[in-house]
Amino acid sequence: MIKRNRFALVAGFSAMALSLAACSSGEESPDADSTSGGAPAASDECNVGIAMPTRSLERWINDGEGLKARLEEDGCTVDLQYADNETDQQISQLQNMIANGSNILVIASIDGTTLGPVLQTAGDADATVIAYDRLILESENVDYYATFDNYSVGTLQGEYIESELGLADGDGPYNFEPFAGSPDDNNARFFFAGAWDVLSPYVDSGQLVVPSGKAPASVDDWQSIGILGWGSDDAQAEMENRLSSFYAGGEKVDVVLSPNDSLAVGIAQALRTSGYTADDFPILTGQDGDKAAVTQILAGEQSMTVWKDTRLLGERVEEMIMSILAGEEPEVNDTETYDNGVKVVPSYLITPEVVTADDVQSKLIDSGFLQPGDVGL
Ligand code: BGC
Repeated sequence: MIKRNRFALVAGFSAMALSLAACSSGEESPDADSTSGGAPAASDECNVGIAMPTRSLERWINDGEGLKARLEEDGCTVDLQYADNETDQQISQLQNMIANGSNILVIASIDGTTLGPVLQTAGDADATVIAYDRLILESENVDYYATFDNYSVGTLQGEYIESELGLADGDGPYNFEPFAGSPDDNNARFFFAGAWDVLSPYVDSGQLVVPSGKAPASVDDWQSIGILGWGSDDAQAEMENRLSSFYAGGEKVDVVLSPNDSLAVGIAQALRTSGYTADDFPILTGQDGDKAAVTQILAGEQSMTVWKDTRLLGERVEEMIMSILAGEEPEVNDTETYDNGVKVVPSYLITPEVVTADDVQSKLIDSGFLQPGDVGL
């Protein structure tokens, strides 16, 4: 027996549904291309362009390759491209995908504000656009958004710090150094806001003291402490600067808010270089469950990561694509939060979770997200 793949099944069912509908109304089968607005048209083609920001960060490699493999199993043609964190490169990759007939575009943008013109071309070509992980801003031509609950990533980091330091019980003062993500990444604002809403009352009360002065005056000023491009090296250089300028007299850093693992890896390196060991390492947060960061967690040099199981995101986007191709509206669970400046983009948010040294095995290894050898186990 020939094993039919999932897309062939979806396409078969939707073709059947369409011809039944046409029979019952006595009309010709509708032309997929003639549908504009409203529910997406069923299509017998699954030609997906996946635009990822960079290969330099582990998570995007997993995201891109995982999604490509899923969609190919479903019978789709997939063009997966990485853009070296260069906006122009991402735009020209998208232009090529559209020119080559991609009818679905899955985009993890580099700079959420720069894709308007190329997405207009996508809209004109009737391609469906799914913003992947990061919202695309200032464009009408964004159909869906699949991501993790970005605000709650920050809340989990803030609450972890609050609870570890006993801040709600009035403990302190502690020396605190906050960092934020890339100023051009819409997610970074949500991460920072989630954490800052928990932590800023303790900065105001003096329980958290920021010797470097690098505490934004308000959440809206988060970009002033952002690390452009999310680079580990830049985070390391910034932490080295703060340590040499503000801790030269032997003061100790007690806690660092790092929005993700790539920054936490650079920050930890700066701390190590300046003499911190696992015994006196500050509390240090992260996000993603990257191998290098989890290795640091097991070594006692990072306290936690907020794990986003990117396989779930891939599965969600695959579901969305199958619904779109079947002419159905994809399932979403948030139609309020993600306003891109032009419209509120219907979104599906997945719940992230905290991982500490105690649950690396049960959450990351047992689920197959990481292999023991990836983290020195
Ligand atoms: C993602 C994070 C990632 C960061 C750097 C953000 O948009 O949501 O998971 O750590 O980009 O790549």
